[in-house]
Amino acid sequence: MRVAHITDLHVEAPPQFAQLLSKRALGAVNLYLLGRSAHFTLRTVEALVDAVVRSEPELVVCTGDLTSTATPQEFERAAALLAPITDRFPFLVLPGNHDVYTTESLGRFQQHFGAWSNGGVYPYVRSHGGVDFVALDVSRPDFLSRGLTPREQLDALDALLGGGTAPAVVLLHYPLRDRRGGPYGPFTRNLENAVELEAVLARHPRVIAVLHGHEHHGYRTLIPRDGAPLPSLNPGASGYAFLPERRRTAHFNLYDIDPTGALGVERYAFDGSVFGPEAGGAYATGG
Ligand SMILES: [Fe+2]
Ligand SMILES: [Fe+2]
Repeated sequence: MRVAHITDLHVEAPPQFAQLLSKRALGAVNLYLLGRSAHFTLRTVEALVDAVVRSEPELVVCTGDLTSTATPQEFERAAALLAPITDRFPFLVLPGNHDVYTTESLGRFQQHFGAWSNGGVYPYVRSHGGVDFVALDVSRPDFLSRGLTPREQLDALDALLGGGTAPAVVLLHYPLRDRRGGPYGPFTRNLENAVELEAVLARHPRVIAVLHGHEHHGYRTLIPRDGAPLPSLNPGASGYAFLPERRRTAHFNLYDIDPTGALGVERYAFDGSVFGPEAGGAYATGG
């Protein structure tokens, strides 16, 4: 089955004055005064959605950071931009740290995307083409950008994976490993208990891949475990502006997964007008 993986769209909408409070004020200064806004563009997301629709996937997954500062306007815009996908294909999504940017924004993700994220109850599993797709929510409001897998989700994931035999693909926002296969850091923006989550995954050989985002330059790496190491895949930010002079552009992945657990990877890159297969094969051009 063909699965499209998008992540880190970081859809923006100018904040209203009343929203310029606390952490969001810093984020807004960062976005609109220091120019980070130019790092993500609506044009890219429109081209992305068009490319994903044309690839006719049987399933689309999104590993978080749909918005930049989790305002109602950003969620509305993200939902509208993704409608050509969510109207046509099965869609699975989970929040990134930017979708739970402040305590006050909690609940908004579920309000706008709960229909595609089990109403906000994690972990959840959806079976497509003989493969179990299991989604975790490890994001939380944090003055830094650290994630944490709640104990209840670790236990529920262990039970869920132990209760089936089909190949399983685990989805979360944060990386477990960096691009060289080492523990992902720094501590200011990583998943605090990645080691605990890896220990659960290591107990279940039916897990064939981990899909994630958060790090905006994509990479694939391997998570060590007994027997075959576990592939970990990050397309890179799918909403990245086209900045070739800084070696930045947007990506998404297409996976071909069969019920035996075999996984093929194609990576698509944005060339400033359309998305096409990455030159030289998936990850040949680096991040
Ligand atoms: Fe992100
Ligand atoms: Fe993130």
